Amino acid sequence: MVSRRAFLGALALPLFDPRGFVAAMEAFQGASATGAAPSDAARDENLWRFAQDAFTVDRAIINLNNGGVSPAPARVQDAMRRYLEYSNTAPAYVLWEVLGPQREGVRQRLARAFGCDPEEIAITRNASESLETCQLGLDLERGDEVLTSNQDYPRMLTTYEQRARRDGIVLKQISLPIPCEDPAEIVRRFEAAIGARTRLIHVCHVINITGQIVPVREIVEMARARGIPVIVDGAHSFAHLAFAASDLDCDYFGTSLHKWLFAPHGTGFLFVRRAKIRGLWPLMAAPAVLDGDIRKFEEIGTHPAANSLAIGEALAFHEALGAERKEARLRYLRDYWAKRLRAHERVRLHTSLDPRYSCAIATVELLGIDTAAMQKHLWARHRIHTVAIKHPEFEGLRVTPSVYTTLGELDRFSDAVEKVLRDGLPG
Ligand SMILES: Cc1ncc(COP(=O)(O)O)c(C=O)c1O
Repeated sequence: MVSRRAFLGALALPLFDPRGFVAAMEAFQGASATGAAPSDAARDENLWRFAQDAFTVDRAIINLNNGGVSPAPARVQDAMRRYLEYSNTAPAYVLWEVLGPQREGVRQRLARAFGCDPEEIAITRNASESLETCQLGLDLERGDEVLTSNQDYPRMLTTYEQRARRDGIVLKQISLPIPCEDPAEIVRRFEAAIGARTRLIHVCHVINITGQIVPVREIVEMARARGIPVIVDGAHSFAHLAFAASDLDCDYFGTSLHKWLFAPHGTGFLFVRRAKIRGLWPLMAAPAVLDGDIRKFEEIGTHPAANSLAIGEALAFHEALGAERKEARLRYLRDYWAKRLRAHERVRLHTSLDPRYSCAIATVELLGIDTAAMQKHLWARHRIHTVAIKHPEFEGLRVTPSVYTTLGELDRFSDAVEKVLRDGLPG
């Protein structure tokens, strides 16, 4: 529960804190001081109101697609604007001599949050850039196989498909159980698909279309024993799940920061284990002197400093919420709607609600109701934004609340779904 002092203090602040950021920081610091377990703090609506108020979201709509890209708290937007305005005072000086070097501070903060050496973190524009650096930067020969699943992100699959056309590599995709409550089965399927020419495994930490958490550490361990590198797509895991690099023990990990860290749009990072940096080519050419330097992955020409520097402010917000508390709240919000809807006979969840296998993201199918039509209906009639997922093996609405989502908004979503289950879609 929020301490009385933090609560009253926060109430007194709005005059001086129009963006609600200080109030949120104080409220969450107060919650930390009480020592409340994350699962208890997750249910404290007084506390999460401060997080809700830190955003400038449009409350005329209900945005349940926070998996795609997230809004940033007002304070993060302010920081970005500040850096942008400063950059424009004298760009050649400010960008390259003042703000550019400040990137090192962000690198250090990110490394601390991910639990690695700052010399293993490259700041990128998104998960796509981070992952494609690995996908295109590892040497592969004609006929070499890349092993992945049919639930990987389309752009990452497109990258391998292009490499197949260009370099003659072979892309092999396995099917995974949906949902999966037996992590060993996922490892088994990858292991069983390894052949004499398998040179690389590519795997999501959290699968975007179902929210399934994948046993990355076990896959890395199994592959390492066979000398096969693993690229981990962490687009949906960093700052969503509370974990550290050592929990995965992987060599390559790419993520976006505009999803779960709530950093400015167009931010991400690439982790490459130190010993592996030299063996990975950058996407854009870098001088030989940088061969063993993580900064070779940042040689992208002139680019804004504002986005990447404002990551610092997003990290401060994330740290104030607390990684464990945030994960618990996200799971609580998911359970709030999913446990209500699963009581209906015609509701099929494609996501396990076991906390070990999922968090904020869940995908729900309404049997007998076309998913795309349902998604359109929710938007047209209720201004509720969800994502229609159509995969060869399943379909459903992907529903992703975030820390700014209120229980009332989730009630409105569930009411709208129940009405359709009762009455069908309007003609
Ligand atoms: C699993 C996964 N990988 C990679 C990406 C690419 O992220 P971005 O578009 O931020 O580069 C996404 C985006 O949704 C994703 O869900």
